[in-house]
Amino acid sequence: MDLLQAMYDRHSVRSYTERPIEGKTKEDLMSFIEQCRRESGLHLQLVTDEPNAFNSLMAHYGNFSGVRNYIVLAGKKGKELEETCGYYGEKIVLYAQTLDLNTCWVALTYSKGKTVFQLDPGEKLCLVIAVGYGTSEGVPHKTKPRESVMHTEQTPPDWFLRGIDAALLAPTAMNQQKFVFSLKGNTVTAKAGIGFYSKIDLGIAKYHFELGAGTENFRWG
Ligand SMILES: Cc1cc2nc3c(=O)[nH]c(=O)nc-3n(C[C@H](O)[C@H](O)[C@H](O)COP(=O)(O)O)c2cc1C
Repeated sequence: MDLLQAMYDRHSVRSYTERPIEGKTKEDLMSFIEQCRRESGLHLQLVTDEPNAFNSLMAHYGNFSGVRNYIVLAGKKGKELEETCGYYGEKIVLYAQTLDLNTCWVALTYSKGKTVFQLDPGEKLCLVIAVGYGTSEGVPHKTKPRESVMHTEQTPPDWFLRGIDAALLAPTAMNQQKFVFSLKGNTVTAKAGIGFYSKIDLGIAKYHFELGAGTENFRWG
């Protein structure tokens, strides 16, 4: 399964079976996370077989059940942290989908002391992604019309519209889809709107846009 297909097949899944992530699937997921860690400089950690640990992480909304594995996204505090977490987190989410795993991004508060992951000095926990074998594949979300998330002065080329459609498939906090992609020449600018986690959403949507539009067709402005 390729990443474009994964983008269509992915939906948030909040209920998981007891089937563990193991064998080649676990190895592949771990080495992909390691690759993203090296590329991004983020502190990315995969926690597996920890059915209780998730209880000390309180999701802001949503009913979760059977979560026993999750990916922790953390990194050095700074202006770019949230967007970078969004971008690389979604890379991992879509890769996990190609391994037949389900996921859900989770905004949370956590009780310090009970957690099983590490934060180094100067680091901040951004978010976690629940991962595992879902009890279902989830359902497609409602999408905004293209026009409300794009701005162009010229007739938009097909690759740009493919990028927009891909961005509209992206998971966003509370399905808010508060981003706008603008096109000038072959330069694309993406801006986050005002809203909770909208910078994380922007990083996620930018990765989708790249997959849909093809990075050979444009540059980021
Ligand atoms: C940054 C971020 C935070 C999220 N936090 C939560 C959460 O705390 N609880 C939850 O149930 N879903 C959470 N989600 C999942 C979104 O609700 C979901 O992506 C959105 O409704 C679109 O649905 P879909 O992912 O199935 O396409 C979050 C998504 C993102 C991107």
